[in-house]
Amino acid sequence: MTNQPTPKSKLRDVPVQDRLNLLAQMANLSEADVAALRNGLSFEQADHMVENVVATYALPLGIVTNLVVNGREVLAPMVIEEPSVVAGCSFAAKLARAGGGFTATADAPIMIGQMQVLDVPDINQARQAIAEATPELIEWLNVQNPITRDPYTRTVGIETRSISGMGVGTVIHMLIVHVLYDAGDAMGANMINTVCEALTPRIEALSGGRVNLRILSNLADHRLVRAKCRVLAADLVDEKAGTSGLPVVNRIVEASLFAEIDPYRATTHNKGIMNGIDAVAIATGNDWRAIEAGAHAYASRTGRYTSLTRWRINDEGDLTGEIEMPLAAGMVGGATRVHPSARAALKIMGVKTGRELAEVMASVGLAQNFAAIRALASEGIQRGHMSLHARQVAMAAGANGDQIERVAKQLVQEGIIRIDRAKEILAG
Ligand code: MEV
Repeated sequence: MTNQPTPKSKLRDVPVQDRLNLLAQMANLSEADVAALRNGLSFEQADHMVENVVATYALPLGIVTNLVVNGREVLAPMVIEEPSVVAGCSFAAKLARAGGGFTATADAPIMIGQMQVLDVPDINQARQAIAEATPELIEWLNVQNPITRDPYTRTVGIETRSISGMGVGTVIHMLIVHVLYDAGDAMGANMINTVCEALTPRIEALSGGRVNLRILSNLADHRLVRAKCRVLAADLVDEKAGTSGLPVVNRIVEASLFAEIDPYRATTHNKGIMNGIDAVAIATGNDWRAIEAGAHAYASRTGRYTSLTRWRINDEGDLTGEIEMPLAAGMVGGATRVHPSARAALKIMGVKTGRELAEVMASVGLAQNFAAIRALASEGIQRGHMSLHARQVAMAAGANGDQIERVAKQLVQEGIIRIDRAKEILAG
């Protein structure tokens, strides 16, 4: 490809102590950004974030290279403890890059806020009354009410549903109000919860009922993101086996079908996707539990849990992959602004909007999924996994400094990656 930016794959070739400086050059980071990454969250900052703080807890931050999303080179920071995730994603991004990179689109960032209304005398009448009052309620929330008025975000709709469930010996009918809220570049949880609370007296007056819960839904299915990519069969040639790329393409398609059909496999397949998405979510200070919850609920939307991605062979014999999922990620508000490393992570990515962030995250998820199923459908994941895993085992056994590489190497050579063996090697 001629029109793609130059690959930024040099990071892994430089010693660890020089990598941050190289990254600073690559991503135009300021000295303050570098210091933020180097120092991380201060004890004082941590104390303002959650309760009963006694310490901070560090994890590795690695950088995905080779990633091209919508024609733009992106360095994606990942915070993760698991070996092979960063390397796998960078490798997948390199192959996808040769096929034109990732193309991704995110829907408008519409969140759902839910209000549970009980003891409603006539649910149909209440639904009608709320529908008629909706334009005025939206105007009140967006323009008149100083608590819910916000220059960057706004309520865009109010919908109602009627559901029933068996209570203790009696059927409980509920009117459920969905407040649709454009969260702009934020994830939006606090704003939507504020709006739902502010609306309570108005909904109670309109319905004649009693509002119980008021909280966002993490099934943000108006806020979908899609990404796709192509991996050339020529890049999947198995040199050792002396075969073309086609058998590997076919095996990856078979792996995809397995996950599409079987919930046991889909869960693991989706876990691999979330290895990538969560790692970027954590690096950027996003609520990864919310993203996880939404992803798995969306994967079950037909009533049967299935995979979030799909891999097929195209007319040229190349592999094509796509992902679709809700992704409530923001770049303003919450920890994204408070955590200094999260702010620096967003700068590394060079994303300008929450939608762009979601597009990169979905591309990372698709890349991660490809890396996992390509390995599983060819040599298996253990080979690539083992040397880093062995280092972790060596460290867990008490190895320090040069001992780590030495012990890890021996563990891999022996094919016994166990802490008891690492301890023996250290003792001997
Ligand atoms: C391991 O963290 C993730 C995988 O299990 C994903 C998959 O099986 O597709 C390798």
